[in-house]
Amino acid sequence: MRTVGSPLGGGPPKVIAHRGASHENPEHTLGAYERAIDVGADGLECDVRLTADRHLVCVHDRRVNRTSNGHGVVSALELVQLEGLDWGSWKAAHADENEMPDRHHADILTLRQLIRSVVASERKPDLVIETKHPTRYAGEVERRLVDLLGEFDLLRPGPGKPVIRVMSFSHLAIQRMAKLAPHVQRVQLIEVSTSPRFRDGLPPNVAIAGPRMGIVRRNPEFVARQHHYGHQVHVWTVDKEPDIELCLRIGVDAIISNRPALVREMVDAA
Ligand code: G3P
Ligand code: CA
Repeated sequence: MRTVGSPLGGGPPKVIAHRGASHENPEHTLGAYERAIDVGADGLECDVRLTADRHLVCVHDRRVNRTSNGHGVVSALELVQLEGLDWGSWKAAHADENEMPDRHHADILTLRQLIRSVVASERKPDLVIETKHPTRYAGEVERRLVDLLGEFDLLRPGPGKPVIRVMSFSHLAIQRMAKLAPHVQRVQLIEVSTSPRFRDGLPPNVAIAGPRMGIVRRNPEFVARQHHYGHQVHVWTVDKEPDIELCLRIGVDAIISNRPALVREMVDAA
């Protein structure tokens, strides 16, 4: 049966740039986020980790090896050491000839810098922050995140402020956020292995489901079922045209993609 639907709010789905415009640019760099804003992303996704000296930095992996010219574990390095690395040039080695990646040096991006740039931008895109890693950091990521959001007066929504959403695969981390920052939106990320638990609704304190694209591809009714409970559905990581078309057809509420320009184009044309 052909499943059709529309986003809960009725408008088009939001376009969220995953790690910035990270298909063409080195992920989690300021350049990747500026590019995402330029191509019309409605929101920016970033992963955050704690350095050894307790700064929140925008890095996906536990180690710095893949996305910089350094070696080691983020949580064992101090910010000044991360600042000494090049987070940009690695991308050129992964690019094919048709792409034009930013081949230049890029600095580590702290969450503070990213928030500052979002707040200062004209369009003020949503900022979607994924906290890694709830057990290793024992809640300190969430506590420091809440302190930082407080510094920028972002713990409550308001006119002229970007919308903040916090995401995690860990329900424990989500519960911590619900306690510490009840007015900040929360997204329960859902992997293939955890999806049966969330087939009918979500755990308490969450109103947004964040399934992997594969879950939605295999089971498009997932979206209608979550909508039935009043939950939005924000799908990741959606880079292929047939997947974007499916997301549009079944009415997901946000499309999280490494290719925000492509998604913007298809959303606007739909
Ligand atoms: O947007 C959610 C998605 O980013 C979760 O997976 O591994 O890319 O952080 P990962
Ligand atoms: Ca992420």
